[in-house]
Amino acid sequence: MSESPDTRPAAPTAPTTPLHRPKGEPRFPGGPAPDPAGSHHERRIRSFQPRRSRVTAGQVDALERLWAQWGLDIDGLRVLDLDQLFGGVPVVLEIGFGMGEATAQMATDDPATGLLAVDVHTPGQGNLLALAERAGLTNLRVANGDAIILLREMLPPASLAGLRVYFPDPWPKKRHHKRRLIQPEFLDLAATRLAPGAVLHCATDWEPYAEQMLEVLTAHPEFENTRPNGDYAPRPAFRPLTRFEGQGLDKGHAVHDLLFRRV
Ligand SMILES: C[S@@+](CC[C@H](N)C(=O)[O-])C[C@H]1O[C@@H](n2cnc3c(N)ncnc32)[C@H](O)[C@@H]1O
Repeated sequence: MSESPDTRPAAPTAPTTPLHRPKGEPRFPGGPAPDPAGSHHERRIRSFQPRRSRVTAGQVDALERLWAQWGLDIDGLRVLDLDQLFGGVPVVLEIGFGMGEATAQMATDDPATGLLAVDVHTPGQGNLLALAERAGLTNLRVANGDAIILLREMLPPASLAGLRVYFPDPWPKKRHHKRRLIQPEFLDLAATRLAPGAVLHCATDWEPYAEQMLEVLTAHPEFENTRPNGDYAPRPAFRPLTRFEGQGLDKGHAVHDLLFRRV
């Protein structure tokens, strides 16, 4: 049987997103600013690599709808008033929340603490916003950009009640070790933003990085180990299992927590 040509008018097509956005046009209207502060003002070794990760429709929806309520752009141009942002509760900064499941859990479990969570990873920001909405969290802010700019330019001295860095990128190749976040210069900066007595809590499943963390933290004059034996700490109950940790455990990696107090 021969096919007759289809003479019906073409069905209307859904509007498509243009492939090239004009420079400076936001990727998600109402969502995070397109260029996190710092990327244009200085050349510096970074602890992250820009990634072109796929953002799901649900994450786009969350970024567009919820950024105004929970989001915070890191523009490096203003000092934040944490009391105003969090209503006067002590504030803990988490650097590198990934997909944010553990972050949302911690904010849910401890409503008396404000959690300022920063990452550059757009899908994770969308995911965390959606989790914040689902749980109705009022003690969480999701920041987009480089944590170094946030710490250095936007947080007042001694303003943080704690700092959490869970499973930072391990940068295993020797030539990339300089990208690791936990180094003496980072600790110098972190020490200025932590209040006396505040705890810096790191965790990693990468043994050589754990050793480096223990070495530089132990050597730093403004931090002291909360473990009297000067060693790694058991995982505190308040730290949920994170996504990266789960992947490390599946590979048989041992996980180390380090809890050091700002003296
Ligand atoms: C290996 S992932 C771990 C994510 C999560 N903590 C977990 O355990 O599942 C590290 C995360 O840190 C983020 N990151 C690295 N350096 C950062 C920086 N300077 N500022 C903000 N985020 C950073 C990366 O984008 C990445 O999402």
